[in-house]
Amino acid sequence: MAIGILAAMHDEVADLIDAMTRQSGNQVHRIGMRDYHVGEMDGQPCVVVLARIGKVAAAATAVTLIREFGVSEIVFTGLAGGIGSHVAVGDIVIGDRLVQHDLDARPLFPHHEVPLLGISEFTADLTLGAELKSAAEAFLREDLQSQVPPHSRKSFGIGEPLLHVGMIASGDQFVADVEKAKDILSALPDALAVEMEGAAVAQICFEYAIPCAVFRTISDRADASAHVDFGSFLSDVASHYSSGVLRRFFAARKVYRPQ
Ligand code: ADE
Repeated sequence: MAIGILAAMHDEVADLIDAMTRQSGNQVHRIGMRDYHVGEMDGQPCVVVLARIGKVAAAATAVTLIREFGVSEIVFTGLAGGIGSHVAVGDIVIGDRLVQHDLDARPLFPHHEVPLLGISEFTADLTLGAELKSAAEAFLREDLQSQVPPHSRKSFGIGEPLLHVGMIASGDQFVADVEKAKDILSALPDALAVEMEGAAVAQICFEYAIPCAVFRTISDRADASAHVDFGSFLSDVASHYSSGVLRRFFAARKVYRPQ
C-alpha cells in the first residue's frame, strides 16, 4: 500500500520528487489544482504532493490522497515556528499530538474541540512517529554536516540541533508576534511548535482511520523576525532536512520490509 507524503511548500518536497523520479519514474496526476506524484522510494509505493499552505489546503489534499490514491498512511513534512522554551532554529519537532490552536467555538464547545467530533487533540501514529524519530536522529547525527553547508548552518546559528517529540499547534496564521505566541502557549502549555497544516491532516486521518505523522524543522521562534529569513531558510536548510529525513525513513523501511 502507498504512503502519502505532503508538504506546504515546493522546496520541502522537490528533492524527494527528484529522487523518486530517478528511482522509479514518476506519474503525475493533476487533481484540484495539485500535482500528485506517484512512484516508489526504495521499493515503497508513494504519492508525494505539494498541499499548499493552510488547514483547508492540507485537509483537501489529505482526502484526495486517501480517496483517489488509496494511501494507507500519511506523513506531513515542513517548517514550524518554535514556541517551546527549549526549541531552537534548526531543531526537529515530531508531533505526537496535534491541536488546532485557532479553533474556538466557545461557549458552544470547549476551546480547541472540533465541534461534533468531540476531540481536541489528535494523536499521531506511534509506529510512524518512531520510524521518523530514528530517521531524524540519524539525519542529525550523520547527514546534517554534509548536507547543509557550513555557511548556511552558521548564518542560522545551527550548532547541534535537537530532536523533540511533543505537541504541535496548527492554525491559519503565520505567528510572527511574541504576544500571539504567548497566548497560544498559555492555552496550550505543552505546545512545542506552531505551523499551519498538521492538525488538519491529523483530523482527516482520524476520520478515515489512517495512521498519520507530522515532522517539522524549526525555521523561526514565531517572533517579530519570524518571516525575515524564511525564504533562504526554506531553500538553504529546510529542503535538506525534509528530503534527508525522508530518505533515511524510506531506506530503513526497505531494510525491515520482508522480501
Ligand atoms: N511555519 C514556520 N514558521 C511558522 C510560524 N512562525 N507560524 C506559523 N507557521 C510557521
